[in-house]
Amino acid sequence: MHIRIITAFPEMISSYLSFSMLRKAQQEDLVSFSVWDLRDFSFDKHNQIDDKPYGGGAGMVLKPEPFFRAYDKLLQQSRLEQPQVILPTPQGKKLNHDVSTELSNLSEINFFCGHYKGIDERVREEIVTSEISIGDYVLTGGELPALVIIDSIIRHIPDVLNSYESAQSDSFTDDYLEGPIYTRPRNYQGLSVPDILLSGDHQKIDQWRQEKRLERTKNKRNDLINNKSKNNIAED
Ligand code: 6GU
Repeated sequence: MHIRIITAFPEMISSYLSFSMLRKAQQEDLVSFSVWDLRDFSFDKHNQIDDKPYGGGAGMVLKPEPFFRAYDKLLQQSRLEQPQVILPTPQGKKLNHDVSTELSNLSEINFFCGHYKGIDERVREEIVTSEISIGDYVLTGGELPALVIIDSIIRHIPDVLNSYESAQSDSFTDDYLEGPIYTRPRNYQGLSVPDILLSGDHQKIDQWRQEKRLERTKNKRNDLINNKSKNNIAED
């Protein structure tokens, strides 16, 4: 999978991509990234990428030309005829487990990050193929949301996590939250690990884990149980 991010703040993106799982995924050639600086596509001497909104009002708007020029370069590079261009925006479809799973099957994804008051509408109309929101609140730019979306996508690629199983048992994989987990020491200042986990009886342990997941989901996110169409865990 190849992911391009076009942004006015490339360092915000590169920094996050150079640690932990995302770094490892690149080293193992499971995914590659290109981070493009929007200013490299600006027309004028001052590298201006934003301007005042027509019709008046507060805030600055990202100009269309740099995005269109970046898109031309993208079309030259892309192996696809109609490359996916995602605009992170609070107006978009809400990100969830199913959306990120679907995106993880693509071979190429491109993110156009807005900032300030937003992005000239013509970019949205002519270039953007989908809009994704990461929740009902407003952030100052599309960089964090792009990273959130990327992180959630990358975890679905087999071999990215130390063990794929670890993604399979994550919260939301089957609409249930993840249960409690423990590591050493067995006893920390009088706080002990549940005996069952030390019993060596894997069937009992699996059953206990499923019960805990159901219990936790009922307590914390009962809406997931009411909403679900699947029924992957026996409820009684
Ligand atoms: Cl995708 N972008 C911005 N700027 N704010 C958001 C968002 C996206 N999702 C929630 N809030």
